[in-house]
Amino acid sequence: MKVRKAVIPVAGLGTRFLPATKAIPKEMLTIVDRPTIQYIVEEVVSSGIDQIIFVTSEGKSAIENHFDYDFHLDCVLKEKNKRNLCEELDSISNLIDIVSVRQKKPLGLGHAIWTARHVVGNEPFMVLLGDDLVLAETPCAKQMLDLFDELQEPIVAVQRVSKEQTHQYGIVEGEEIDRERTHMVKRMVEKPAPGTTDSDMAIIGRYILTPEIFDLLGRTTPGHGGEIQLTDALLALKNLRSMYAYEFEGTRYDAGDKLGYLKAILAYGMRHEKLGSDLKEHIKELAAGL
Ligand code: G1P
Repeated sequence: MKVRKAVIPVAGLGTRFLPATKAIPKEMLTIVDRPTIQYIVEEVVSSGIDQIIFVTSEGKSAIENHFDYDFHLDCVLKEKNKRNLCEELDSISNLIDIVSVRQKKPLGLGHAIWTARHVVGNEPFMVLLGDDLVLAETPCAKQMLDLFDELQEPIVAVQRVSKEQTHQYGIVEGEEIDRERTHMVKRMVEKPAPGTTDSDMAIIGRYILTPEIFDLLGRTTPGHGGEIQLTDALLALKNLRSMYAYEFEGTRYDAGDKLGYLKAILAYGMRHEKLGSDLKEHIKELAAGL
């Protein structure tokens, strides 16, 4: 089956980024010239998916508005003869079909995904977490979708992290298979205490899931941090069918973390068509003064 839908949970409070996120959704913080969430949506679009399901919460309407058509703004810009801007805004509102569902209580990532079950229905789907930006030649989502076309089994994106960092991630213990960058998942654990796993394969916020996950999520009890964890339901899914961990090609930035966010701004800024060369020049000057 083909993956047509992507669930993007955007209901989180963004506490790691306070005070910046007190009145603004963290997904709307800007990287160079667009909000972080737009990079995720563009990744989905360029990977060939047809529909996005945002799982939102109170105070997140700026995200939906960003991808909507703004009649008033359009009129004002047209009056001022700002055709290029009009076209750019128009293309954002026409990027892809977007549906929103509300997560009414902050019960965890697993619960957020479960909230989208009626809109996803009985088909495989992708999940992308807004904090994880991946700069890659081929979009990370597309790399995974190509693999899913072949395997037709759930896939989680992983990257190697240091032993000191494993407690910050869902960790996968896997077995190599005869396919580059791909492992068969044996066990997974959400944010393991230091020293409790030998694996350094951390789950990054890209998943392709099959619809059995919804029943499993509905039965998952609170886990790490008292929240309903997607990783716990994934472990149950792995007991029903094969599951693969895929080491994607590209560089991942944790845009939900202050340092990760700064690194993302530099990386995306340096690649920017109009600003890149001036920014690189400035970075050289700064480095020379260190
Ligand atoms: C979530 C997942 C975790 C994963 C991480 C990747 O955790 O629960 O398994 O490794 O995203 O960014 P969070 O960062 O939301 O605590």
